[in-house]
Amino acid sequence: MVRAGIWGVGKAIPEKVLTNADLEKMVDTSHEWIIERTGIVERRIASPEQSSSDLASAAALDALRAAEVDVGELDMIIVATATPDMVFPATACLVQAEIGAKNAAAFDLLAGCTGFIYALDLAVRAVETGAYKRVLVIGADVLSKITNWRDRTTCVLFGDGAGACVVAPVKRGGVISTYLGADGSGGDKLSVPAGGSRLPLSAEVLEQGLHYIHMVGKEVFKFAVRIMGEASLEALQRAGLQPEDVDLLIPHQANIRIIDAAAKRLDLSPEKVFVNVDRYGNTGAASIPIAVHEALAQGGLLPGKRVVLVGFGAGLTYGACVLEWNSREDRLL
Ligand code: COA
Repeated sequence: MVRAGIWGVGKAIPEKVLTNADLEKMVDTSHEWIIERTGIVERRIASPEQSSSDLASAAALDALRAAEVDVGELDMIIVATATPDMVFPATACLVQAEIGAKNAAAFDLLAGCTGFIYALDLAVRAVETGAYKRVLVIGADVLSKITNWRDRTTCVLFGDGAGACVVAPVKRGGVISTYLGADGSGGDKLSVPAGGSRLPLSAEVLEQGLHYIHMVGKEVFKFAVRIMGEASLEALQRAGLQPEDVDLLIPHQANIRIIDAAAKRLDLSPEKVFVNVDRYGNTGAASIPIAVHEALAQGGLLPGKRVVLVGFGAGLTYGACVLEWNSREDRLL
């Protein structure tokens, strides 16, 4: 069986910055509260005409450039998103058309903020079997468009963005293990109740704001604090590794307190934990690939480094992945 690794990473973030000071003018909140409870200083917000497929396409082209892969070589595109451009066609199909990936199958995957890890797992399996050779995995979300900007308990948390990576065969290293899970009984703790087949959009639904993110923050927090550590440990065990073997933890960027709890469970020192939640807030399925892109740009992902990606999200879902970062020479052409 061939191994699968990441050949190239890309990202796309909107230009507009929304600071905590801006939010103070919109809802009854304060910079101090947001910093203390979440670690977020600012987030990026898409323009009115910018959708998930726009950011996803830009991130995809960035990743293809980094991977030195021609768009025509792609044989599969998976877009992990909770904010598709529309119910159908899939956002992945819109991206496929936008970037001109004529030879790629394309579909969306919905696993909330864990979506990127779920999609990465599928891409790795697809490449390992030899059935697919160049899979583009994208995490893209424009959560600002399903956020109730009058609800201070949610609107301070989220931001927009996209991250992408090309998964392809490698001679050594690459993805060593993955672990995915879900607890659907907690689905009502984090949901967008309306707009689907259970509660189609209507004037009444819009009036009640049921088309926005609804969240029981404390419950999601408790789940996240427990599951981020557990999922990481399970993935490490499957890889035959110990927490002390980890060079870098790249967790879903939802809340600095959740990240700190995961780091503590693995007994990792702060320099081994990647954090950018302060600059982007929670960008949903985009959070992990954006973080991977920035960790790489900052020199934290040298070849041979052992990395754990871990996330949680709506579903409730969770997942982790252990990989050894590849050099350009590791690519199996
Ligand atoms: N500004 C000021 N005060 C706020 C506020 C805000 N933006 N949001 C809530 N509060 C108030 C609450 O009303 C509450 O007041 P009360 O004690 O008078 O009732 C108080 O702050 C404490 O709220 P609480 O919900 O207990 O805070 P918390 O410490 O649990 O932090 C979250 C809230 C949302 C930051 C935290 O629960 C969290 O991060 N949960 C996980 C959310 C998440 O990651 N979701 C996405 C998953 S992918």
